[in-house]
Amino acid sequence: MKTTYFSALELVAAAELIKHGELAAFPTETVYGLGADALNAIAVQKIFEAKGRPADNPLIVHVADVSQLALVARSIPVIAEKLMARFWPGPLTVVLPKRQEVSSFVTAGLDTVAVRFPSHPIAIELIRLAGTPLAAPSANRSGSPSATTWQAVADDLDGRIAGIIKGEPTSFGLESTVVDATCDPPRVLRPGGVTFEELKEVCDAIQPFSSGLFDQHTEGVNSPGLKYKHYQPRAKVVVFAAGSLESELQRAFDRLNQVHYIGVNLPANPLRFGSVMACCDVDEYATKLFDTFRKADTAGAKWVYCEAVAEVGIGVALMDRLRRASQ
Ligand code: TXA
Ligand code: MG
Repeated sequence: MKTTYFSALELVAAAELIKHGELAAFPTETVYGLGADALNAIAVQKIFEAKGRPADNPLIVHVADVSQLALVARSIPVIAEKLMARFWPGPLTVVLPKRQEVSSFVTAGLDTVAVRFPSHPIAIELIRLAGTPLAAPSANRSGSPSATTWQAVADDLDGRIAGIIKGEPTSFGLESTVVDATCDPPRVLRPGGVTFEELKEVCDAIQPFSSGLFDQHTEGVNSPGLKYKHYQPRAKVVVFAAGSLESELQRAFDRLNQVHYIGVNLPANPLRFGSVMACCDVDEYATKLFDTFRKADTAGAKWVYCEAVAEVGIGVALMDRLRRASQ
């Protein structure tokens, strides 16, 4: 299949692809999404084929208006309304009871549906022009780091999907926070762009993300996507505690130019690395992480050394991605 590339001024044409049951990748504030008409089961199946995604991993439905919720959700718990009022549009996905009309391909057979109203103007405009909610996972091959640039989408999916919208690099760089609002109290299923501290301000009883969730298998997994290999570049990812790098390095390897580095502190001897990404804070670290993984692979690096951060704020989501990438 030939992939067509669209500028931000060509969204009408990109929306036509979606209306015709094809796939188009688009920027959001978190990562790039791979969109299909959420109400067209055949279009939705193409997402699983293009990504090589296991069929039991459900998709997030993206809306551009709270009124579109009625198309996919059967009911809206009071707590979900509060969370949406505070964090939408933005990087929060809310799991709700699903309407029967939503294809079981979207929800992988669950009776719930995950919904998100992104804040990115291109995402919002595309959904409006397509005139339908978009089922969209992250726009990468299954298992790889999510795509934070259109070039990363192209590297993974050119020739496999009908269209790619060439937006700017995404601003958060990690995926949305997923909250299950069908249970009381609600629970964080995946840490992401909205922090636990922010969620607590709206719902004091909310249950934090527990990494034990993704150690379990099939039975009892609340968010099926969590049990799969995720975010992994070909290079081996090593997470080290701040300050412990030098001893770590001596133990691990000697061909140092094959090692890339990312963290908020400069390593003691930056010249020993093939590439050093010293971020000014944890937010920038989150934004740059997946791109650093992809660049390491392009350069043929064997390892990416990643400095651990404190598990507060966006640090919770960052450490979750680092753990899964280094598994
Ligand atoms: O930021 C994001 O959320 C990006 C952009 C494109 O919006 N999307 C994204 O989609 O990260 P994906 O498919 O890579 O991750 C979706 C996550 C998976 O962990 C999946 O298991 C979970 O959401 N999920 C989807 N539907 C669910 C449901 N009904 N119940 C529980 N978890 C669900
Ligand atoms: Mg993904």
